[in-house]
Amino acid sequence: MPKHIAVIMDGNGRWAQKRHLPRSIGHAKGLSSVQKIIQYAHEFNIKCLTLYAFSTENSGRPKSEIKDLTSLFDKTITNESNKILDNNIKLNILGDISFFPKSLQIKISNLIDKTSQNNGLTLNIALNYGGRTEITQSVNRVLKKKKILKITEKDIQNNLDTKNLPDVDLLIRTGGERRLSNFLIWQLAYAELFFENSFWPDFKKCIFINALYFYQSRNRRFGKLNN
Ligand code: FPP
Repeated sequence: MPKHIAVIMDGNGRWAQKRHLPRSIGHAKGLSSVQKIIQYAHEFNIKCLTLYAFSTENSGRPKSEIKDLTSLFDKTITNESNKILDNNIKLNILGDISFFPKSLQIKISNLIDKTSQNNGLTLNIALNYGGRTEITQSVNRVLKKKKILKITEKDIQNNLDTKNLPDVDLLIRTGGERRLSNFLIWQLAYAELFFENSFWPDFKKCIFINALYFYQSRNRRFGKLNN
């Protein structure tokens, strides 16, 4: 079983457009797939799940879509807090949430604090996250801490937003595109990549299970030989 699964939840907009609905409905429907995948992660005893909810590049979308997404994140934090606590989930955020309104930042920070001692599923939500920014920030953190001339891989690893978490084993991307889109580019170095054509709002258990079968069928050599 993969320890760490990362997901690019793509296709909310196209799901809505196909039905002549506003994109915001696609995102709202995407939220129900988020609830489903958390449930599947519990069922299959996955230790760590990372969801790409908003990239640094998404900040270039129309103001109205950013507003809709922000209010969806806000409602979700308010409505799902108890469920997250009851289910022993440890919440982390990857990325820079100072982009979002102060009230949402406070709600998120409070929930992170409240769940910090939980030891069930580690749920990372990437919000205003970009892989290149994360690596650059990590290098700057190292330079600030250590007045040294040489930076090691460990230094960078230990100063990423995902410090203390295992590398990603399996990436799932819905929506038909086959690219990484600046997501966890350091942590995905040896991940198995599973691409699914259907849109994120249509995510269901058989797709999750297909991804797990795909993962289990891979021979992971990490650049070495089998024996
Ligand atoms: C990508 O689809 C999806 C997003 C930018 C938003 C993801 C948000 C959610 C699934 C909603 C709630 C999430 C949480 C964690 C509370 P797209 O809009 O790029 O789709 P398109 O490629 O079809 O336009």
